[in-house]
Amino acid sequence: MEKTFETILSAYQQAVEMRLNACFADETQPQRRLFEAMRYSLLAGGKRIRPVLVLEFCRLCGGEWKRALDFAAAIEMVHTYSLIHDDLPCMDDDDYRRGRLTNHKVYGEAQAVLAGDGLLTAAFSTIARADAPAEVRVAVVKTLAACAGELGMVGGQVLDMEGEGKTLTGRELLDIHSRKTGALIVAACTMGVIAGGGTADQLAAAEEYAKSLGLAFQIRDDMLDVLGDAEKLGKSVHADVKKNTFVSLYGLAQCETYLRRETDKALAALEAFDDTDFLRTLTARLASREN
Ligand code: IPE
Ligand code: IPE
Ligand code: MG
Ligand code: MG
Ligand code: MG
Repeated sequence: MEKTFETILSAYQQAVEMRLNACFADETQPQRRLFEAMRYSLLAGGKRIRPVLVLEFCRLCGGEWKRALDFAAAIEMVHTYSLIHDDLPCMDDDDYRRGRLTNHKVYGEAQAVLAGDGLLTAAFSTIARADAPAEVRVAVVKTLAACAGELGMVGGQVLDMEGEGKTLTGRELLDIHSRKTGALIVAACTMGVIAGGGTADQLAAAEEYAKSLGLAFQIRDDMLDVLGDAEKLGKSVHADVKKNTFVSLYGLAQCETYLRRETDKALAALEAFDDTDFLRTLTARLASREN
């Protein structure tokens, strides 16, 4: 019998949870409070979209998905660090994340900064130690570093911050969204292709898919800040008042149109792969997600 979308998704999510749960668990270290802070945010139950994309693209390219679990864990560490820092008082100043108090609310700002630093560093040691050929590990490091760093997520966060209180053009907003959120989604999909031994054409198609999915994902995130329910989201709503968002620039009705357009573009990019039922359903569900 063909596996349902839910069965595959929960197999991926459970494997990721198990892999993450094994991290930073050494209670004999004197800096165990740091480990606790890292685990507090890492194991708070995010959607695990980026790891799921790593695993599914690995499978689509003919790889054994379980062998990409270290890469999946690494990208979730980078994503979680980005959330801890994003929530700091000097950035978005948010009190809730993943259904619980933000890291700095529990552990204090200095420990939260360092918990983020610890997660970012551990992501790269996890890749370096993964059970994969050296050339695969190097390619994955290169991809994740490029997408997470100054030209990618970190760069996007800076532009997002500098844009506060100003009116940006559509092009500028698009650039911010594609860096601060799109880049890590591009990393996830392309890391999966690299892990699965995919071709150059598959790499290009995965990148095209991820760029549109990443944009759709942040448009939906901006919409949920206005439309969403804090309980379901696990984070505060109406927090983007000073921000440039798709909603502030275009209004909700236009957001729907853009969201549909980017989702359709993402789906079209999947033509380059066989057996895309799971990804098609995931892509469609993310466009109407409520958390
Ligand atoms: C939140 O990401 C930050 C954005 C890039 C919009 P997610 O919506 O994937 O958050 P989690 O991982 O499920 O908590
Ligand atoms: C965050 O964008 C992107 C990151 C790199 C963390 P947001 O600031 O809109 O994410 P949320 O709404 O706080 O999750
Ligand atoms: Mg932010
Ligand atoms: Mg934020
Ligand atoms: Mg947001």
